[in-house]
Amino acid sequence: MFARLALGALLLAAAPVLAQTAESPRHDYLLQAGWKFTKGDQPGAEAPGYRDAKWQSVRIPHDWAISGPFGPDYDKQVVAIAQNNEKEATVKSGRTGGLPFVGTGWYRRALPEAKLAAGQRATLLFDGAMSDAHVFVNGKEVGFWPYGYNSFYFDITDFLAPNGGPNVLAVRLRNQPEASRWYPGAGLYRNVHLLLTQDVHVPVWGTSLTTPSIGPGSALVKLKTDVAGTPAASQPLRLDTEIRDAAGQVVAKLSSPLALGAAPAGQVGFDQTLAVPQPQLWSPETPVLYTATSKLYAGNELKDSYDTRFGIRSVAFEAGKGFLLNGQPRKFKGVCNHHDLGPLGAAINVAALRRQLLLLKEMGCDAIRTSHNMPAPELVALADELGMMLMDETFDEWKTPKVKNGYSQYFDEWSERDLTNLIHRDRNHPSVVMWSIGNEVPDQSAPGGNKILRRLQDIAHREDPTRPVTMGMDRFEADLNNFAALLDVPGFNYKPHRYPEAQAKLPQGYLLGSETASTVSSRGVYKFPVVLAKDKKYPDLQSSSYDVEACNWSQIPDLEFAAQDDDPYATGEFVWTGFDYLGEPTPYDEKWPAHSSYFGILDLAGLPKDRFYLYRARWNAAQPTLHLLPHWTWPGREGQTTPVYCYTNSPSAELFVNGKSQGRQTKSKTDDPRTRYRLMWPNVKYEPGTLKVVAYDATGKEVSTEQVRTAGPAHHLRLVPDAALGPLHADGQDLAYVTVRVEDKYGNLCPDAAQELRFKVSGQGSFRAVANGDATCLEPFQQPRMKAFHGQLVVLVQAGSQPGTAQLTASGPGLKSASVALGVQ
Ligand code: GAL
Repeated sequence: MFARLALGALLLAAAPVLAQTAESPRHDYLLQAGWKFTKGDQPGAEAPGYRDAKWQSVRIPHDWAISGPFGPDYDKQVVAIAQNNEKEATVKSGRTGGLPFVGTGWYRRALPEAKLAAGQRATLLFDGAMSDAHVFVNGKEVGFWPYGYNSFYFDITDFLAPNGGPNVLAVRLRNQPEASRWYPGAGLYRNVHLLLTQDVHVPVWGTSLTTPSIGPGSALVKLKTDVAGTPAASQPLRLDTEIRDAAGQVVAKLSSPLALGAAPAGQVGFDQTLAVPQPQLWSPETPVLYTATSKLYAGNELKDSYDTRFGIRSVAFEAGKGFLLNGQPRKFKGVCNHHDLGPLGAAINVAALRRQLLLLKEMGCDAIRTSHNMPAPELVALADELGMMLMDETFDEWKTPKVKNGYSQYFDEWSERDLTNLIHRDRNHPSVVMWSIGNEVPDQSAPGGNKILRRLQDIAHREDPTRPVTMGMDRFEADLNNFAALLDVPGFNYKPHRYPEAQAKLPQGYLLGSETASTVSSRGVYKFPVVLAKDKKYPDLQSSSYDVEACNWSQIPDLEFAAQDDDPYATGEFVWTGFDYLGEPTPYDEKWPAHSSYFGILDLAGLPKDRFYLYRARWNAAQPTLHLLPHWTWPGREGQTTPVYCYTNSPSAELFVNGKSQGRQTKSKTDDPRTRYRLMWPNVKYEPGTLKVVAYDATGKEVSTEQVRTAGPAHHLRLVPDAALGPLHADGQDLAYVTVRVEDKYGNLCPDAAQELRFKVSGQGSFRAVANGDATCLEPFQQPRMKAFHGQLVVLVQAGSQPGTAQLTASGPGLKSASVALGVQ
C-alpha cells in the first residue's frame, strides 16, 4: 500500500524533514549528506557510471566560493554604476565580494533507494540552486531552472531505474561573470528534497489557504487543495481536514467527499471552508500559528497527508489610514537584507537566520524586505514563528539590464514562472504581507515599462488575490508619469523629501519607504572632525560610526524618520540594510580590498554598530535604550574636540566627563535633522576617564545612566555566547555564535585591539567560521584565526551529532586566553 523503501546506506544520511509515522503515505527526504562536488566543466559527469571518487565530499547546503581565497580578479567588473550616478567606467574588484563563484560546478549523489509501487511518484524539489541548474537523473536531463534564487521542482518518476535503483542524481550549475551587483553565492546553497508520494496526492505547494473573514467569535478559513494523479474510477476521493491550534488541539474539522467525474482528470481539487472559533490573530507581537492537516482518501485508502501551517491575520492598505494589520494602522519598522549569512556565505543555516531575526526583533524591527530576490523557505518559516513581516521580492532586473549578464536575459521567458513559483510556495505564510515585483528596474523609465508592471502585478493578483503588490522605485519623475499610479503600493527608494509631491500626484493615498537611509559606517570607527558628508572616503577604507555619512543619493536615518513622522500617509520604511553583506562596498567600490558593504545596522559578523541603538530607541518602545558614542579611549586626543552622541528613547539627558557636567540636551526640531532624534554634545574636549550620561523622562525624572571608561592595555579575552539562541542541538548543523572581546584588566573593551586571535574547539562541536566585520579583511572565514576588529569578532561553533559539551578556547599574543563550555543537547 505504501512506498516500499529498501533503505540503503545512503538513506541513513538523508534525514526526513517531517516526522513520518509508519502509515505516512508521503516521504520527504532532505538530501543533505553524501554529495560529491567539483568545479569546472566535466564532460559526461551526468552519466551514472562517471567516476567521481576524487571529487570533494560535501554536505549541502554548500557554497563553493565562500572559503575563498579572496582575490581582486574574481568577477572584476569594469563598469559605471548608473544607480550611483557614475558616468565613467572604473575597475570594481569587490563588487560581488571578491570570491571565486564564477564558473561551472557539478554535484552528484546516489538517490535513496526507492522501489516505487505502481503509480507512485517521485519529485525532486530544489529550494534554490545558484545558478543555471541543469538536473540529471541516471544521465538524462530532467529539467533546467536558470534563476538561482527560486525554488523549483521536477517529477523524476519516469527517470528512475525500474527496480529501485541505484539512481544517480547529477546537477550542473554555472555562474556567469557580471551577472550580479552583490555576492550571489555558488552551488547547492539551499536544500534539496526528494518527495515520494502515492499515485493520487497533493502536489508540491498544492494548497492555498486564505482567511477571508475574521471576527472575534470566529474566522473563516478557506482551503483550496489540488489533487494530482488520476484516481481509479471505483475509488471516490475524500478530503478530511483538521485544523489544530498552537497547542495541538483540534479547533475545526471538515470531511469533504468529491464525486468522481466532478472535474476533468488532472484538475481535481477541493474547496473547503472551516470556521475557527475565537481565533488568535497573528502579528509580529503575537505570532500565533495554526496547522491544517488534510488527509486525502481514495475509497478507504489513505493516499496523502498534507500539512499547511498558517496564521489568521488581515492586511490592507487604505487611503487615509495607511497600512493596516488586523485592522490596526502601523508603520513598517523594516530592514532590507540580502541573502548571504556573512561568514557562511549563501549556504542556508537555520541557526544563522534565527540569530538574525532575534537581533532584529531586539532592535524593534518588525519587517524584512528580501532584497532583491526570493528568500530561503527557512527564512519564511522562521518569520512566521518569531513574528516578522516580509516583503517577498522577486527581481532586480526586468527587460533592461543593470549588469551585463543579469536576469534580463531570462526575463521574457521566465518571469511568469519565477513569480508564480514564489507565490505558490509562500502564499500560505502569514508573515508575507506583500509581494514585490522588482527593485529599481531601469524599465521604470523605458517605453512599455508600465505594461510589464501591469503584467507582473496581474500575475500576482491572479495567483494570490489577498496580498498587495509593491516594488522599489528610484526614478521619481518617470515614476509619477503613469507608472507608480498603477501599483497597489507605491514604494519609493530614498525619496523622503519628495513624499508630499508623490502623495499629491498619486491616486493611492499612501506610500511606502521601500528602501531608505543607506547610511554608511564601520563598527568602532570614528572620524574627526564630525561632519555631515556624502560619498566621504578615507585612506583606511572605513566610514565613520557617528552616522553622519551617506551616498550622494542616500541619507542619514534622521531624514527618513522625520518624513515618516510628519507625513501621515507614509506607511513606514525598509532601511538599507539590516546586516552588512558580501559585495557592494560603497563608497569604496573602486578600492580593493574593500569587498563587503558598509550599509548594515549590524556588521558582517552580526555585531551591532552604533546605529543599532538609534533604531532601537525609535522602534523598541517597550525597552529603554541609552547608548553613548564614541568609545572613550583616545590617547593623543587629550584636549581635542571629541563630540559625544547619545541614542536614547528618553527625551533629554545630561553628560558628564569625569564628573564635570557638559550640559543637558533635549531632543528638539531645528534645521539640523539630527537634533530631533539624537542627543549631541558637539564640543566635548577629550580627557581620559569616565564618560557618563544621565537620562531624564518627560517630567524631568532621572530614569537611567550609562558610562563608558577609557580602557587600559589589552589584558585578556572574554567570550560571550549569544544567549538568545539557547543550547545547541546535537544535529550536526546548529550553531553557537560567540563574541570574542579583547578587554583590559577591568573588563573594559579595548576599542582599537587588532591582535590576531586563534580558536580551538573540542568535545561535541567543531569550529565552523569566524568574522570580524571589517569590510577590508582578507583573512578567510573558515580558518580558526582572525584579527580582532576594534576589539571584537564572532566565532561560530557548530554542534556535533552527540549530546555533551563543546569547548571553545580563544587565545592571542600577550592576552590571557579564555574558554567557554557550550551545552549540546
Ligand atoms: C539601492 C539599491 C540596492 C543597493 C543600495 C545601496 O539603490 O536598490 O540594491 O544597491 O542602493 O547601494
